[in-house]
Amino acid sequence: MRIAVAGGSGTVGAQCVDTLRARGHEVSILSRRAGIDLRDGSGLVQALDGMDTVLDVTNVMTLSRRRARTFFQTVTTNLLRAERRAGVTHHLILSIVGIDGVDAAYYAGKLAQEQRVLNGDTPFTIARATQFHEFAGQLLDTQRGPLALLPRTLVRPVAVHEVAERLAMLADAGPQGRVADLIGPRDEVLADLARRQLRADGITRVVREVRFPGAYGRCLASGRLRGDPTGNPGPVYGRTTFDDWLRARRRDNAPPR
Ligand SMILES: NC(=O)c1ccc[n+]([C@@H]2O[C@H](COP(=O)([O-])OP(=O)(O)OC[C@H]3O[C@@H](n4cnc5c(N)ncnc54)[C@H](OP(=O)(O)O)[C@@H]3O)[C@@H](O)[C@H]2O)c1
Repeated sequence: MRIAVAGGSGTVGAQCVDTLRARGHEVSILSRRAGIDLRDGSGLVQALDGMDTVLDVTNVMTLSRRRARTFFQTVTTNLLRAERRAGVTHHLILSIVGIDGVDAAYYAGKLAQEQRVLNGDTPFTIARATQFHEFAGQLLDTQRGPLALLPRTLVRPVAVHEVAERLAMLADAGPQGRVADLIGPRDEVLADLARRQLRADGITRVVREVRFPGAYGRCLASGRLRGDPTGNPGPVYGRTTFDDWLRARRRDNAPPR
């Protein structure tokens, strides 16, 4: 199959590209680094010529509801429009578990993306996953200094390679609409993940939990981002725990002997 991965240079995108290639697919990457800005969409019809599937794992780092909505709506509209002209038959996206009704901050953008896909012409699959194991570290990276403030919440983090495997399997399967959520193997306190990661990296920093205000804060505090094990269809579970991931990360980053 010929598959274009929008965001194929990102955290999950790069692993999707490797996994899809290992399964024998012909894969191309759509990203600014690869010469395509999906916000303006120029050159997209040519880039999608001959493609069967578009996997969209693009991202924007923002907590602004307006910026997130504008980004995901624009990118999705441009992709779907070009797909219609190029004859693409499957649009597959990665969204986030538990965001229904959370029209706030970043999640407003993801809901808007899902809505565009649901209303679009290309047959689609919407796959959701919980936060990646990298999530706590990404939040730590957004703050400087000896004190880091993390939202008070339970999460169920999942390994990026397992997300990539699931997306590759869904690309093979063809359009299926909304599919079962992929959730991590264990409930974790987000601030504890940050503390364990700092300890593993030998970094001294104080992590405090705070309750974020508004709809975003309520969503985080509720723990709903962990997903609903009793949902229908029930979730698919990842196997790699956060501590497995930390150990593998330490092994990979260890200097050669
Ligand atoms: N992180 C999580 O915990 C988590 C959990 C569940 C679902 N997700 C979803 O997974 C998706 C990917 O997340 P990620 O953390 O892997 O993202 P990421 O590492 O930030 O990567 C984002 C990708 O999007 C590309 N991109 C950004 N702006 C672009 C533009 N204007 N035109 C073309 N390409 C653009 C980037 O490449 P260039 O910079 O080269 O353009 C990069 O390849 C997101 O949609 C997110 O909502 C994430």
